[in-house]
Formats: sequence, structure tokens, C-alpha cells
Amino acid sequence: MRELNDPTVLRAALIDARSRMLALYDHLAPAQLQVPHLKTVNPPLWERAHVGWFQEYWCVRRRGSGEPLRSRLPDSDPMLNSAIIPHAERWNLPRLTRESVSDYLHREFDDALQALERSTPGSRYFFALSLFHEDMHAEAMLMTLQTLALPAPPAPQEPIPRPDPAPAAGDVAFEGGEFEMGSREGPDFVFDNELHAHRVRVAPFALAAVAVTNAEYLAFVEADGYAREALWSPQGWRWRAEAGATAPCYWRRGAGRWLARRFDRWEPLRAEDPVMHVNAHEAEAYCRFAGRRLPSEAEWEFAARADLDPALDRFPWGAGVLAQGAVNLDAVYAAPVPAAALPGCDSRRGVRQMLGNVWEWTHAVRAVSRIRAGSLPRVLGTMVQQPSRAARRLLRHAGATGAQSLAQLLHPGAQRRLRGISNRRIALTKGRRTCWY
Ligand SMILES: [Fe+2]
Repeated sequence: MRELNDPTVLRAALIDARSRMLALYDHLAPAQLQVPHLKTVNPPLWERAHVGWFQEYWCVRRRGSGEPLRSRLPDSDPMLNSAIIPHAERWNLPRLTRESVSDYLHREFDDALQALERSTPGSRYFFALSLFHEDMHAEAMLMTLQTLALPAPPAPQEPIPRPDPAPAAGDVAFEGGEFEMGSREGPDFVFDNELHAHRVRVAPFALAAVAVTNAEYLAFVEADGYAREALWSPQGWRWRAEAGATAPCYWRRGAGRWLARRFDRWEPLRAEDPVMHVNAHEAEAYCRFAGRRLPSEAEWEFAARADLDPALDRFPWGAGVLAQGAVNLDAVYAAPVPAAALPGCDSRRGVRQMLGNVWEWTHAVRAVSRIRAGSLPRVLGTMVQQPSRAARRLLRHAGATGAQSLAQLLHPGAQRRLRGISNRRIALTKGRRTCWY
């Protein structure tokens, strides 16, 4: 994006991202850094060091087609290049101690900032890439804390806003038609393997103005939704049976009330919050229960772009950055805000929280044809979908931890919230769904 060509902006963003990333694990005791081997997480010290390695490699060490410069951490390539080291082996790296990783991160970060001062507009792409890579790993670290029931990192003190007393209600109708989907080549940042802007046509549809709440999802759970095979796809029903799921994975029934686990603590389920930590099978089953369906990726994007000027407007509400706290970005709140809160970040058409707060499922499955081969495939090998025979489910974006000033509505590596929609020609369809980690 345009601002990321400015080294002063980049420097401030890199410093901010590093301080946020470090804060996510700094509070953990040594024993808590020894996490069990799970496919969905990385060992904390490896992940921290990998973030530094990525930055050092692409911003400091890389020299065109020549051999890269030596790393500040000897033999870092086979240990920290995620394209090389198998996931299971990341648990078996005794050289990575808290002290050695901390020392490496400090040294490579100083090198990176010095390299930024010497950089040219053409080479700054890699600093922006390293920034987004670090932000993505920061989210993964937050997910690790939740997955493993580890303590929450230090929380901001900003009070959580209440739901807007007059929230946007019901569905917002969209006329459909042809539009330009994706990011344009030009001054904005795009990942190298991202399919750029292309024309897409969508039929008329309607999108729920506010994301699905815990209260709405609880109605599905208490109506025996997890025991009603007719609500589930065949794959979803198999998943449900194998998992033995009867509710979202971090919910449990307490004495007369439902509780939800947030990091290492069980708290009363907050009815007005967007429902979180549900997978695509659960999202679809809920939608069937509620007589709705998930939006396609194109529908979601059509709704987000409606009435915007693509040359000027970067956000669903327009061009300007909102006051801090008006949108749940910048990690300004300690938790997701209620689905109906923050009316100031409504899209031009009145859809709430299309940026910020939580990710959203779409029913899109990204096909091979929608991802172009990267000109720098090694850069993004583990970060963004490479061309693959495996179709992938898509989440659309609203990152609570990202920086608003650098947010981009259509940033492909960023997370997006699920929002159910109703196609007006299938009038019974209705629903939306969110998840958070
Ligand atoms: Fe990575």
C-alpha cells in the first residue's frame, strides 16, 4: 500500500509489530514454553525465531541471485526456514533457548532497521512483506495461547464498548452485478501469488448487517442442532461424530448457565458477542438451522466495496482512518466487542464491523485457478496459499490485531469475518457466523 513505500511509516510499523509480537509470549513461564506437539501450533521459541529469520533473510541477507549473507544465528536456515524444516522437528531444537532467540531477534531487527534506511522504493516491498508476516504470526501466537489454555497476554485497559442501542438490524440488500474483485496492481501492497483485480458478477443478495451472536448460536445448540443430522453436510456430520462435538469447542454448560473458555479462564458466555471458534461445518449447520447460508467470497467483497471509490477508499466506511477504538483494530480492546457495537465503522451500506473484531467464514473454496503462481514462490510458501490442487476454505477479514493505518480492505493474508447472507431469490436463506482466535 502507498504508505508502505515511506520508510518512516515502515519503520514505525515494524517497531510496533515487533513489540506486539514479543508481548504475546513474554509473560509465559519457562515451563509454559514447552508446548505439546500439535499440528495447529508451533513451539513458541521456534515461532519467534522464525519471524526474525524471515525478516533477516528477505530484508538483510538476500542479495539478488547471489548467495545470501550469513545469518546472525549460525545454521539458522535449516532450523528456521519453514519451507525446509518439517513441522514435527521444530520441537527438537535444543539450541533455541529463550536467551538465544531474544539475542537473535534484537540483532537481526537492528540490522533490518539499518537496511531499511539504505533501502530503495523497489526493495521496500520486502519490509512490508516481513511486517505482514510478523502480524500473521502474532495472530497465530494468540491462537496458540487460546488452543493450549495458556494465560492471556497483558490486556489493554480500554473498556469494551456496549452494543449500539440502535444497531443496524436485519439484512442489507445488494443489487448485484459485475464488479472488480481483488487488489489492483500499482502502488498498493499485494502478495506476489495473489490474483489481481478481475471482473466478477454476482446475483442480487442480502447480507446480515450484524454478525451472528452467541445468543443466536446458543439457540441452535439448545435445539439439539448438534444431534440433527439433517442440518449437517455429510462431511460435517462425519466431523461432528468423530469429534463428539455437542457445542463449540470452548463452550461448556455450567451450573445453570453456559461458560466459554477465554485463554486459561472460563467465563460466562456473553450473549451479545459474535460467536467464535466454530469451524466451517458448524457454520454451515447453523445456517441451515437458521434458514440462511454463508456468503460467497465475491458476495462478501461486493458488500464491502459497495458505494466505495476504488481509487480513494481503503476501508468499508471510506477513505479516512477512524479514531482509535472506533473499530476493533490495533489490538485496542482486550477481547472481541459485541457484534452490534461500534456503529462508526459501518460500511457505506450499513454492514457493521466488516473490518475489525473477528474473522468470517465464507462458503468459498479457493480453486487452483484463482491463485496465480508467485513470481517469488519461496517467499510465501508457508504464508499464503500457493497454487495447490487442494481447494481451500476462505475466511474474510477483520483483524483485531492489525494496525488500522495500514489496513487494507482486501488484503488477502488478513483475516475476515464470516457473515451469513440471504439471497433474495431464495427468501428463506438467512445466517451469518463468526470466529475469533
Ligand atoms: Fe512464517
